[in-house]
Amino acid sequence: MLNLGVNVDHVATVREARKITYPSPLEAALLCEKAGAWGITAHLREDRRHMNDQDMIELKANVQRLNMEMAVTGEMVKIASGLKPYSSCLVPEKREELTTEGGLDIIGRFEAVKSATERLRAEGIIVSLFIDPDEAQIKAARETGCEYIELHTGSFANAEGKKQRDELKRLIKASELATGLGIKVNAGHGINCDNIAFILEIPHLHELNIGHSIIARAVIVGIDQAVRETADLMSLYPE
Ligand code: PXP
Repeated sequence: MLNLGVNVDHVATVREARKITYPSPLEAALLCEKAGAWGITAHLREDRRHMNDQDMIELKANVQRLNMEMAVTGEMVKIASGLKPYSSCLVPEKREELTTEGGLDIIGRFEAVKSATERLRAEGIIVSLFIDPDEAQIKAARETGCEYIELHTGSFANAEGKKQRDELKRLIKASELATGLGIKVNAGHGINCDNIAFILEIPHLHELNIGHSIIARAVIVGIDQAVRETADLMSLYPE
């Protein structure tokens, strides 16, 4: 069975646009679970641009399976070790990026990634490494002792036509290689209702992590009710 992990970061993005208390990522996460999400993902970024430390505590206390996305830094490993999410996904992080761009360079940062993986696993946290569908990176991932990789599907999602089919072939090959090496495979980034049928052609998948397209769709399917609620309240106007 293919599990759905919903990334609720962008609920916090909307909240942080006003620096107020709503919408609540926890409330959204609980609704996601009710609707069938297997897991909830939240990325605690170094700059806390959307999720903050308190969000992570509340999510961990209330959702079934919290997947903490995090950079490979001492600060994040310390926070995760205290929080003990169900799983963690190690990602590259750049301050200036709009979203996670490209996979983790495990080869270039091997000792740091291996050490973070070992420390998190010692705390009983499942570790996944977010990487591009690249043979050398997958082989390096195995040497870190991680249980999972998450294949970065961004290049696939951003491509069209033949280029997209080629990117899909890379993902299929990467999943087969990782599975042969005994690593379990998740995938995520840029997946939406238009491209998901292609993603389902990738074999051996355990979980898809999807954020932006679900939150974007929620705005559209939810706006009718939101407007009606406000209009109903305004109808109480005495004049
Ligand atoms: N997986 C990882 C590791 C990510 O960094 C992200 C983006 O935060 C996602 C999945 C979800 O991507 P999207 O928001 O494009 O669905």
